[in-house]
Amino acid sequence: MTKILDGKTLAITMKDEMANEVRQFTAKGMRPPHLVAVLVGDDGASQTYVASKEKASKEVGFTSSVYRMPATTSEEELYKTIQFLNNDDEVDGYIVQLPLPKHINENRIINAISPEKDVDCFTAVNLGRMVLNEDGFLPATPMGVCTLLERYGIETDGKHCVVLGRSNIVGTPMMNLMSRNNKHANCTVTICHSHTKDLASFTRQADILVVAIGKPEFVTADMVKDGVVLVDVGIHRIADESKPKGYYICGDVKHDEVDEKCSWVTPVPGGTGPLTIVTLLENTLKAYKKHFNL
Ligand code: GUN
Repeated sequence: MTKILDGKTLAITMKDEMANEVRQFTAKGMRPPHLVAVLVGDDGASQTYVASKEKASKEVGFTSSVYRMPATTSEEELYKTIQFLNNDDEVDGYIVQLPLPKHINENRIINAISPEKDVDCFTAVNLGRMVLNEDGFLPATPMGVCTLLERYGIETDGKHCVVLGRSNIVGTPMMNLMSRNNKHANCTVTICHSHTKDLASFTRQADILVVAIGKPEFVTADMVKDGVVLVDVGIHRIADESKPKGYYICGDVKHDEVDEKCSWVTPVPGGTGPLTIVTLLENTLKAYKKHFNL
């Protein structure tokens, strides 16, 4: 029988744990941790993500701020904001919500973030630390997937994990985290992408399949083996006038036909998304503790 990797419920438990820890600090008169989100432009999905991060920050007792900047913001203006945040002692961590408007060089902006405040773990410095297994932040979405697997007791050691997608944010760091020498990793990892030939021949070998390809309902039943642990990182809003809201939400997996073949599966929504946010909060708490030598 298929079991659900319920990220929504797990995230509530983990946020409760974190809120308790934060209360211990504030009870001593310390200021709470402070997470900032920088949002440039009016991309609908980005606004939703930032609102979720703001809500979760408040739930665990953090201070949360959003720097909203118009789509016409120049790269220099944004760069100056980054430098301001790097030097602001009241800010423990911040994120620059992606995508940025096309006229802004995303790499330049991301790598201007102080590595000590880069709670998304997007900078070259922090990604390098992750690859080298050095202490630092871990990337929110892939680490959220690892936490979900760990907390549900999914065996990973020696398993074949196939990762679909090679983005800097998900696929590539996912490959690193699942293959590292760690009790809750130690997988043999195959990474597949748009140039992979006969993709299904790889996905069908997966004991654990992590899908982050950014294409609605891309993975179909013929692409997975019976008993697979399936993690769907995708989330899409598809216009549909027949639905009360005028749209429906789906992932990168065609769940209505694939789920029955899985031993475990993440729902969309309520699977990996809530754990991404929890990891972001964990990274912010880590930055705060480091700042105050706690
Ligand atoms: N855009 C899509 N996902 C993310 C994320 O996790 N962090 C940021 N900063 N931007 C994103």
